[in-house]
Amino acid sequence: MMKRREFLRNAAATAGLALVSKSVPSALAQSSEARIEVLMDEPLGTISPNIYGHFTENLSGVIYDGIWVGENSKIPNIGGIRKELIDELRKIKPAIVRYPGGCFADSYDWRDGVGPVEKRPRRTNFWKGGESSAAPAAHRYDPNRFGTNEFVQFCRLLDAQPYLAANLRSLPAQEFDRWVEYCNSPAGSTTLADQRAAAGFKEPFNVRYWGVGNESWGCGGNFTPQEYAVEYRRFTTWVPGYGTQLQFIAAGPDGDNREWTRGFFEEIAHKGRNQIGGINGWALHHYAWNLSRGKTRDWDAGKGDAVNFDSVDWYEVLREGDRMESMINAHWQIMGEVDTDHHVKLVVDEWGPWYRPGSGLTLTDQLEQLPTLRDAVFSGMTLDTFNRHPEKVGIACCAQLINCLNSLYLAHEDRFCVTPVGHVFSMYSAHQGGQGVRAEFSAPSIHYQRDDKPASFWGLRGSASLHDRELVLTAVNPSVTDAIDAQIILRGAQVKSGESMVLTAADIHARNTFADRQAVVPKAGRLETKSDVVAHLPAASVTRITLQME
Ligand code: AHR
Repeated sequence: MMKRREFLRNAAATAGLALVSKSVPSALAQSSEARIEVLMDEPLGTISPNIYGHFTENLSGVIYDGIWVGENSKIPNIGGIRKELIDELRKIKPAIVRYPGGCFADSYDWRDGVGPVEKRPRRTNFWKGGESSAAPAAHRYDPNRFGTNEFVQFCRLLDAQPYLAANLRSLPAQEFDRWVEYCNSPAGSTTLADQRAAAGFKEPFNVRYWGVGNESWGCGGNFTPQEYAVEYRRFTTWVPGYGTQLQFIAAGPDGDNREWTRGFFEEIAHKGRNQIGGINGWALHHYAWNLSRGKTRDWDAGKGDAVNFDSVDWYEVLREGDRMESMINAHWQIMGEVDTDHHVKLVVDEWGPWYRPGSGLTLTDQLEQLPTLRDAVFSGMTLDTFNRHPEKVGIACCAQLINCLNSLYLAHEDRFCVTPVGHVFSMYSAHQGGQGVRAEFSAPSIHYQRDDKPASFWGLRGSASLHDRELVLTAVNPSVTDAIDAQIILRGAQVKSGESMVLTAADIHARNTFADRQAVVPKAGRLETKSDVVAHLPAASVTRITLQME
C-alpha cells in the first residue's frame, strides 16, 4: 500500500501543486531538485523546551573556571557565577540543566557541597586520573565551593529547571531521600530545611527532575540491567516529594545496547506492570566518537581529530551522530513492548561528538575540544532529530555546556567565546514549545569516496514547528561543496513574508576562539518569498527560516 507521504509527493508532482501556498508553476515544482514540503495538518506533538537542555558535570574546567569564578573574582560574576555565561545563556532560554554528572555523580556526596563554605571538605574528584599536573588544583581536588545551593542559584538565574543526578553506586538510598528532603522540604520543617535556610534559601528548591544513577552499566556501578532495575526500584520507592511531583529518570543504555533497555524494562515489569509508573524518563547517551571507518572499536584509537579533518571525516562524524534517529526509534519500540502506553519518555541527557584530546583552547581542561562548523552542523542535525520525535523525546542535554565536549561556550579566566554550537542553539531556540509538524526534506544524496569505496550521505534534512501564524523551519545542508536552492511548499497555508538566518563559513574547519570570537556567527540568509518560496542553503550550513503565514 502506498504510504501517505509518498502519495502526497506523487500527487503534488502530478496535480501541478494545486494546494501550494504561493502559486508554484508546476514545471518548476517538478524540476526542483530540493524541496521542503510542510504538511500543516500533520502535527507531531509539542516540542518540549526541555529538549534544549544542557549538561554541567563537575569535570575539569566545566564548573571551576567555566561556570564558577567566585564572588571575589575580578571576572564579572553574579554571586560567583560567570556573568558573561549567564548573559549568553539567557538568550537561548535553556529550560533544564543537568548536574553534577555524568560519572562524577556516582562518586558525589551531596552533603559535601552544602553548609558553611569554610567547612566544606576537599575531595578527590572522580576525574582526577585524567587531569594533568598543570591543571588547577580545583580540578583534581574538589573544593566543594560549588554545590547544590550554587547550582540551583545558577538555574534560577537562567529560569531553568535543575535536573540532579543522584549517586546510586556509592551512597545508600537513604541519602537520595535526604538530598530530596534538603531541596524540597518546606521552610522550617526539618533539620535539612533549616540547613538550607541557614544558607540563605528558606523556601524549598522544589527540584522535580532526578536522575537515578548514571551509566549504571559502567562507571555508575557496573550492573546488569536486571541488577540495576532492582536498585532503581529500591531507590525510588516512596521517596517523598514534599509537594513536588518528582520525575525519576532511569539510567539507560550504553549507546545502542538494546539488551540493556529490554532487560531493564522486563525486570521492572516482573513485579507488575504498574511498576512502570515509577519511571518517568529513560536516559539514552549517544556520543559520535568512532571515526575509524570501521577499522577499530577501540575507544582511544577510534577517535578522530576535532579540528584537523578531511571531508570524509566530516561525513563520518555526521553519520555516527545520525544514528540518533534509529536509536530513538529502536529503544522507543522496545520500551513499548512493556510500557504499552508509553508513559516513559526518552531522556537523551548526553549527546555530541567526542574527539581525541588536544584541541581545547585551555589545554589543561580534560575532555575540552574546540567545536568547528562541523559540530554546528552536527548539532543542528541532532536538534532536528529531536524535533521530529516530540512524542518520544522529553528531555535532551548537550554534553557539555562549557569547556568540555560539544560545548556551547569556552572560557578561561577572563576570556570567553560562543562556539558555533552555541550559535546553533540560539537559532534553534525558536522551536521551543512549538507544535512540531511533519515536513519532508528532499534533495539528491551526496556521493563521495570513503577509503576508495563509494559512500553516500543524505542531502538535506530538518524540522518544522508552528507558533500561531509563524512557522519555524530549520534545515541542514551537510554537503561540503554544494549549495542548495530548496523550494518550500506549505500544504494548507499561505506565506505572507519570511526571513532566514544562516550559519556557515568558507572553511569547514572554521571555529571561534578567544582571539577571534566572530569567525562563525549567524548571518541573514537568502530567502525568496515573492512568488515561489525558495531558500538558499549554502554548503556546510545550518539555516533557520521563519515564515509568517496569512
Ligand atoms: O560527558 C563525559 C562522560 O561521558 C560522562 O561523565 C559520562 O556519563 C559519559 O560516559
